[in-house]
Amino acid sequence: MSASSSSRFAPLQNDTFLRALLRQPTEYTPMWLMRQAGRYLPEYCATRKRAGSFLGLAKNPDFATEVTLQPLDRYALDAAILFSDILTVPDAMGLGLYFAEGEGPKFERPLQDEQAVKALKAPDLSELQYVFDAVTQIRTELNGRVPLIGFSGSPWTLACYMVEGGGSDDFRKVKAMLYNRPDLMHHILRTNAAAVASYLNAQIDAGAQAVMIFDTWGGALADGVYQRFSLAYMRDVVSQLKREHDGVKIPVIVFTKGGGLWLEEIADIGADAVGLDWTVNLGKARERVGHKVALQGNLDPNVLFAGPEQIRDEVAKLLDSYGKPEAGHGHVFNLGHGISQFTPPESVSVLVEAVHEMSRALRED
Ligand code: CP3
Repeated sequence: MSASSSSRFAPLQNDTFLRALLRQPTEYTPMWLMRQAGRYLPEYCATRKRAGSFLGLAKNPDFATEVTLQPLDRYALDAAILFSDILTVPDAMGLGLYFAEGEGPKFERPLQDEQAVKALKAPDLSELQYVFDAVTQIRTELNGRVPLIGFSGSPWTLACYMVEGGGSDDFRKVKAMLYNRPDLMHHILRTNAAAVASYLNAQIDAGAQAVMIFDTWGGALADGVYQRFSLAYMRDVVSQLKREHDGVKIPVIVFTKGGGLWLEEIADIGADAVGLDWTVNLGKARERVGHKVALQGNLDPNVLFAGPEQIRDEVAKLLDSYGKPEAGHGHVFNLGHGISQFTPPESVSVLVEAVHEMSRALRED
């Protein structure tokens, strides 16, 4: 890809990932892993210790850059992903993000009454400057090795944490609000969509070369409700994104975990690629989306707890299921959800080598 002369960054040496997202031919299937920088890597745990906490890590661009690059130093991955979290946006809206040890993310001031909902406003982007600084620093230090992915949560997935006040097994509070007071829920979602669109555009300005919207909890919604309360707002975000920067296309990936039944509808919101979890057959998904979007996914992360032979076997099955690469289609290999913190790091070496080697061989047949 010809990087424009106006870019302040080094030219890209490996654009395989971006080409696959844009459904252009590639020599092999590019890959990266959701949560590729994280606790399964001892070097991540060491940096996290120095930073004192997860938020200490994520809010400091030097530390965020260091951990973003760690998986790339170990493995031949084809993309880097900004080290941050989807919950930085509600944090910047004043909800007070914190992590209780061993309990996951929580908010000090969740949206639990009408007054709190009505006071909600899109954040001042200066509150998120540490994220944009990290993007620019990571892109600079990548020095053109691979593209950098920026990301955000979807309006609905952010709303789940904002109303529940943390993770949830049943989404009782957020769904009660959705059914009792759809007006309040739509107010939150409208505010989140505006925030997410400007947040992603600022990441693109700072140097992100592709962006991904994580709709982790869209799959918890009923049919019909998903379309109105999650998909419609992702469509709105996608329509507001800058799709080109410095003369280079910026692909957009949307990922609804558990969204396989709605694949055609998701493929229709204007994104370049759709992420799939492991419940979906990749070959059938390819038939269903046709030339509309590229696909990203979708190995069960738990395959990485099996032995090297089994990992290679599952990779072969997945690549086989996707079928022969052809112009107008695109596949980015990934897991169907984030990598587990208990994953043996050696399993990832086996996986990356298998994907690259087997997908090259497929193209030579
Ligand atoms: O993919 C990457 O390498 C980039 C970094 C990234 C993190 N979170 C780092 C992180 C990304 C893309 C996310 C997104 C995110 N965060 C999502 C959407 C994607 C998904 O996984 O479904 C969600 C739902 C969150 C919210 C969140 N953040 C949770 C539920 C947790 C706790 C997880 C746990 O297992 O404790 C976090 C914290 C978090 N975000 C960690 C990491 C590496 C673990 C923090 C630690 O080091 O203790």
